[in-house]
Amino acid sequence: MKLRIDLSKYESMYDSFDNGHNRDHMEGVRRFALKLSQKYCPDKQEIVYVSSTLHDIGLSVSREEHEKHGYKIIKKDRDIKKAYSRDDFDLILEGIREHRASTGKPKSDVAKIIKDSDKAYADMYTNFRRACEYNRNKDKKAQQKEVLRRAASYIKNTFGEGGSATDVYFQESRKQIIGCYKPIIEAYDNNNYEKLEKILNHKEDN
Ligand SMILES: [Fe+2]
Ligand SMILES: [Fe+2]
Repeated sequence: MKLRIDLSKYESMYDSFDNGHNRDHMEGVRRFALKLSQKYCPDKQEIVYVSSTLHDIGLSVSREEHEKHGYKIIKKDRDIKKAYSRDDFDLILEGIREHRASTGKPKSDVAKIIKDSDKAYADMYTNFRRACEYNRNKDKKAQQKEVLRRAASYIKNTFGEGGSATDVYFQESRKQIIGCYKPIIEAYDNNNYEKLEKILNHKEDN
């Protein structure tokens, strides 16, 4: 896509973020968001591209309230502001500010697309590792198998068919989320602890 502005300084920020929010995450969110925008707001594809590229840059300040930090950084960016109409600039900002699963309340289709895509491009490995850590800390006496079982059960109840995280705006997002966590859900359903252990110990290639 030919853009009116150069986003490379923001794109390179993702190289210093954690695995759940690295460049792969941003590119995955952006790819999926563009797919949704082709169908649901074809005249806003560039706006969706820009907003999805920028949605997590607030992590350069802190993880807490990163949606607000990102919003503030871009609000001050004169080049982006100049390149787009006032309405489109506001849409870019809304996409950033309302992207989080826990707090976001998007009103526009653009911002709904960014929020859905962020959920759909979560990193399965990171989320499973966090769920295991949480369960291990909660019950220090629990055996490894039990920790894996509880973490996988949480993943299934949250991201599986009918799970709370599948309450999204667009049907394509629901499918994508369930697909993203399928290996964990399948292993859980088949009591395949070896597979769950493997997913937990997955190492990034880079
Ligand atoms: Fe985020
Ligand atoms: Fe994100």
